[in-house]
Order: sequence, then structure tokens, then C-alpha cells
Amino acid sequence: MISERLLTKFLRFELSRTLNLSPANIKMLPASKLEHDYLLYMHVPFCEQLCPYCSFNRFPFIEDQARSYFEHLREEMRMVASLGYAFPSMYIGGGTPTVLTDELCKTIDLARELFGISEVSCETNPNHLTPGIVGELEGRVQRLSVGIQSFDDGLLKQMQRYDKYGSGNDILKRLESISGIFPTLNADMIFNFPSQTREILEQDVCKVIDSAVNQTTFYALMTSPSVARSMKSTVGKVDYTREASYYELLNSELLKAFRPVSAWCFSRHGGDMIDEYIVDFEEYVGVGSGSFSHLDGSLYVNTFSLRQYNALISSGEMSVSQIRNFNRREQMRYRFMMELFGLKLDKQHFKETFGTSIERALWLETVFMKLAGAYDRNDEKNITLTPKGRYLLVVMMREFFSNLNNVRDQAREALAPDEILGLSQNAR
Ligand SMILES: C[S@@+](CC[C@H](N)C(=O)[O-])C[C@H]1O[C@@H](n2cnc3c(N)ncnc32)[C@H](O)[C@@H]1O
Ligand code: SF4
Repeated sequence: MISERLLTKFLRFELSRTLNLSPANIKMLPASKLEHDYLLYMHVPFCEQLCPYCSFNRFPFIEDQARSYFEHLREEMRMVASLGYAFPSMYIGGGTPTVLTDELCKTIDLARELFGISEVSCETNPNHLTPGIVGELEGRVQRLSVGIQSFDDGLLKQMQRYDKYGSGNDILKRLESISGIFPTLNADMIFNFPSQTREILEQDVCKVIDSAVNQTTFYALMTSPSVARSMKSTVGKVDYTREASYYELLNSELLKAFRPVSAWCFSRHGGDMIDEYIVDFEEYVGVGSGSFSHLDGSLYVNTFSLRQYNALISSGEMSVSQIRNFNRREQMRYRFMMELFGLKLDKQHFKETFGTSIERALWLETVFMKLAGAYDRNDEKNITLTPKGRYLLVVMMREFFSNLNNVRDQAREALAPDEILGLSQNAR
């Protein structure tokens, strides 16, 4: 698709500049501002097994390191509380946050006490859908997001998830066994895996529809140089030329039972707490190694070194290691992308914030979207999207996350080899 190719080229160029971070020497994040709404993101970077396609910040699970990390997370939360922050919602991502449920629950309980949090979203893997773990999370977690990727056993084997997380049928049974326990139960899926045929994707969508979940997120496969290398020898080389038609397929099949709530997230029967916290909250505070905070037009990135993270928190400092102050145009683009990714751009809110109309401020972007047939409604109040427009937002997010992955790659390359392998005994 020509508009996808143009957009990808443009974004690769622009985002590499926008996400060009500088080293930061910041002991504390800025304090909370009264009139702002914030969200809390917490990162738990440990996994029992590392998947070859994964582009997120994760390390092999070692129990004593993880226990010590959770202690530091709680300490960091106390620092955030001392800056006056309150949060209605908390998103816990990974890695695999449920690797140590006792530590996780203690940390959620503290966060509720410190910040008045009313809803918590937490990621997990299918092998953790056991009565013991689920019983601990019930009531504490309102949205449980289970990483599935595909129900196809061949693909699961290629992804090295079959032995650890079970077959497609095992996963379906586990989902069924926890039906109704969490207000939102989400299935994380990936489309456009190199060996995923249209038939496999169609089967995956049918299985999601027949399963117990009331929300699903179909991520477009994303890479970074390091992920592309590890994928080449396991799942194969990524082919973006099929992505648009695969999105079209999954979108038209899913809409028989679900409604879109963002460009790649779909819900039914409740399933209200949505996947991408950055859609609902422009500003967020990230705690944990490798987390991002977005506050007042600046992006703060915490250190990717667990050793440095623990040392800084122990000495009473926050762990921000890089920063980017966005200029006004970059802030306008960020708003444009995030609101449209959430399916509706509020033109009046845009004008109130930036003192100019979206058409005047971002004329190139708005003309491109119009010509590409992305707009469904475009009146004086709002812009909404056609299915093609939603796909173009998937492309924008794919490129945005791939660029963040490059930031992660560079930061992780700077780590000591023993830390990358998770062999450090001195990470405390
Ligand atoms: C980072 S994982 C964390 C939760 C859990 N460990 C899991 O595997 O689901 C969350 C989701 O990110 C998505 N993901 C990971 N690597 C990806 C990639 N390279 N491209 C697209 N999505 C990816 C997967 O759908 C995964 O379920
Ligand atoms: S996909 Fe999930 S389980 Fe696999 S390495 Fe990434 S974070 Fe860990």
C-alpha cells in the first residue's frame, strides 16, 4: 500500500530525531501539577523464558534479584508519592509481572494505599492462570492481559512458547477456567509473523471470538535491529508488504463480535479498561528499570541497568538516565497520533491546548490523512477514522514502538554482558 510505505519512510526519519535522547542527571522527577491527570506505569522485567521475537525490556528470572527489585519498586513509589502524585489507574507491564505473586500483591496494595488507585491492569502469561495465582489477583486486578500471540501450535513452537506456556488448546482451557473473574480479560495476539498464513490468522481470530476473553489486542509485529537478528534464525524475516491485508482480514473478522477501542484493541461485553494507557492519559509516571515517564512535554527514561536502578533507588535518587524535551510541534504531533490511535481526535481540546487549529498546525499530516481516505468523520468538533485510517494508525504506532525499541537496544548494548544474561549475583 503506497500510503503505508510513504508513512513508514516519513516516520522512520522523523521519529529517529524525535526520540533522540540526551543523558540526564536528574535526581527526582518534577512534582505533580494540580490540574493534570496522571497514570502510573510499573515495569517488572523478568521472564521465566525469553521469547526470540520480543522487543521489550526483559531479563531471565532469578528469584533473589526479582525480590530485591520489587523492594526497590516500592521504595521508588514512596518517592513518587512524596512528589504529590495521585493516580486513578495503574498499568503493570513486563516482562512477566506475575513471576512472584506475593511481591506483586504487596506492591499493588502499597500503590493503592499511596495513590488512591481504583483500577489495575496487569500482564501475565498462560502458565500463570492457575487457581493459586488467579486467586491472589482477584479483586486486586481489574484487567488481566494474557500473552497468547497465536493459538497455532506450529507457530507457538517457533516462538519457543509451546513447551513453557502450553498448546493452543491448553491456553483456551485455561482462559475458560478463569472466565468472569476479572472485569476485563484481554488476549494479546500478534499478526504478521513471517510463517503466519492468512488461514492461521483467520483461525486465531475465530478462536479469540470463541474464547472467554472480552478484549483482544492484535499487535502488528514490531522489530528493532536486535529483535530482527534473533527472529531471523527462529521465526523468520518480517515482511511488511502483507501487513495491510492481514489487518483488513483480522479487522473484518473481529468486528463480527467485538468493537474497536483503539486501532489494535477490540472489546465486547464490558472489557472497558483499554490496553494502551498512553491513549487515555497524555501524562504518566513510569516506575522501574527501563520505564518511561511523559510529563509536561518531556520524556524521561529510567536506566535499563538493574544494578544501577537498585543502587540509585537505595541512595534515595530516582533512576532517570535519559531525557528528551519535546518542542511544541512534536507535542502537537504526539497528541494527534495518540488521540487518533484512541479513535477520536477532539479538535476543540487541541485548539484550547495549543492555541491553533489542527489543520493549521499540522497541515501536512491532516492533508495526507484526508487524501489517504483515513477520515470517517471530520467536522468542527472531532475527527474519527475509517478502517483504512485505523490501519495507518497501526503503522504509526508500529514505527513509534520500533523506535522506542531502538532506544532500548542502544541502552541495553551498554550493559555489562553478565547483566544482559541475568547472571549477576550483585544486582542488589
Ligand atoms: C511485552 S509482553 C509482556 C507480557 C507477557 N510476558 C507476554 O508475553 O504477553 C506483552 C505483549 O507484547 C507483545 N509483543 C512482544 N514482542 C512483540 C513484538 N516484537 N511485536 C509485537 N508485539 C510484541 C506480545 O503480544 C506480548 O503478549
Ligand atoms: S513476550 Fe512476554 S514472556 Fe516473552 S520475553 Fe517478552 S515479555 Fe517475556
